[in-house]
Amino acid sequence: MAEQFVGLKLSSPRAKTRTIKPCPRLEGEVVLPGDKSISHRAVILNSLAKGEAEIDNFAPGGDCLATVRCLRALGVKIGRKGSRDSPTLLVSGTGDDGFKEASNVLDAQDSGTTMRLLGGLLASQSFLSIITGDASLRNRPMGRLIEPLRLMGADIWGRGRDSFAPLVIKGKKLHGIDFTPPIPSAQIKSAILLAGLFARGNTVLHETIPSRDHTEGMLKRMGASLKSQGNSISLQPLSSPLVPLNLRVPGDISSAAYFLVAGAIHHNARIMVKGCGINPTRTGIIDILLAMGARLKIHNERLEAGEPLADIVVESSELKGIEVSGDIIPRIIDEIPVLAVAGCVARGKTVIKDASELRVKESDRIATVVSELSRLGAKIEPLPDGMVIYGGRPLSGTEVDSYLDHRLAMSLAVAGLIAKGKTTIKHAQAAQVSYPAFWQALQQILNTGKS
Ligand code: S3P
Repeated sequence: MAEQFVGLKLSSPRAKTRTIKPCPRLEGEVVLPGDKSISHRAVILNSLAKGEAEIDNFAPGGDCLATVRCLRALGVKIGRKGSRDSPTLLVSGTGDDGFKEASNVLDAQDSGTTMRLLGGLLASQSFLSIITGDASLRNRPMGRLIEPLRLMGADIWGRGRDSFAPLVIKGKKLHGIDFTPPIPSAQIKSAILLAGLFARGNTVLHETIPSRDHTEGMLKRMGASLKSQGNSISLQPLSSPLVPLNLRVPGDISSAAYFLVAGAIHHNARIMVKGCGINPTRTGIIDILLAMGARLKIHNERLEAGEPLADIVVESSELKGIEVSGDIIPRIIDEIPVLAVAGCVARGKTVIKDASELRVKESDRIATVVSELSRLGAKIEPLPDGMVIYGGRPLSGTEVDSYLDHRLAMSLAVAGLIAKGKTTIKHAQAAQVSYPAFWQALQQILNTGKS
């Protein structure tokens, strides 16, 4: 029987350790943070535009704030108003004046998107930039960024024979390329497109598997001459500055994923996530949960600033195991840790393959997901490019660690909701990288049965 005690031990919002216990019911509406990927692009592209733009519901997490700090260091004026969890940014684009050389090293902190997108952009600006990050980011591969930029003529170097940050970039005029990135990566695609905006000649990219397309959509809406045809993208260099784009950022589907899985695996749940982005390049988690048998419904589909969004309701479901591999992987890459939690509860075997990119995220997510879910009693085995989860075994709470990986911290919290007894998550503060209000949002849907 489920324990009659509930919840989450609430202490300060930045608490390093969180304790989760199962609760009799999950119920309510979840307020999502603005989408992280869209927020990075909105503030970078508006910084280049000529004029002012307002970005509502900007992602409040550490990653997007790192991008804002870097842009300010490059001379962009960015004001901020509104609430902490849903800020509005006021961006004064530099337009014809361009960015200025930063007087210090730029710090992307934990954010791969900041480093790679700005890396591409700075390679085309006529000054020196040095960009670094925290210990996790300094261990993540940067050769995949350096190599195509060098093909465009860039002077860019990295530590470890051009493999890792810090990166040193001596910006200059680049030339366009015709390139097929060997790894499907929206970060690398976007970096090349940003470099291509200021290059001589067109930049043409061919994706082997499509990845999130927010950069392309936003560039088009801001007046760039960009065409997407099948899996190929062709960009002409800018002949005049981008036009500012006011927008309200949709809720982050990657953050919604924790609640979609929680609602589906909990025996007594009904959760609604409102205003959630449902760009088709991001909705792998919805497709997979539906294929696993989730009772999930999409309501009120609409468009905001060219991005589709909807309200999603999920209820307690009987999930079955599934194989997840191939072209869907880039559409679900950030949601695999929480999908693994769903796999633990599902009937039968869940196999995740073709996802070796998980090894180079904020942690080695194959190793960390397998080790921490195993601690909770899951039967889960690593593969070189994924994992196999034998579902249907009860989980038992114990002490687990996020390894400072935000997606692991939040996935373990979801596991804690259905594990027997107490689950204590070390380094839970990592959630602030993408979803600072996650613990409060979770608290709000926990129904203690005590009211
Ligand atoms: C992102 C792309 C993905 C994703 C990351 C955000 C983006 O990385 O994992 O969290 O905003 O472009 P890759 O492009 O390296 O796959």
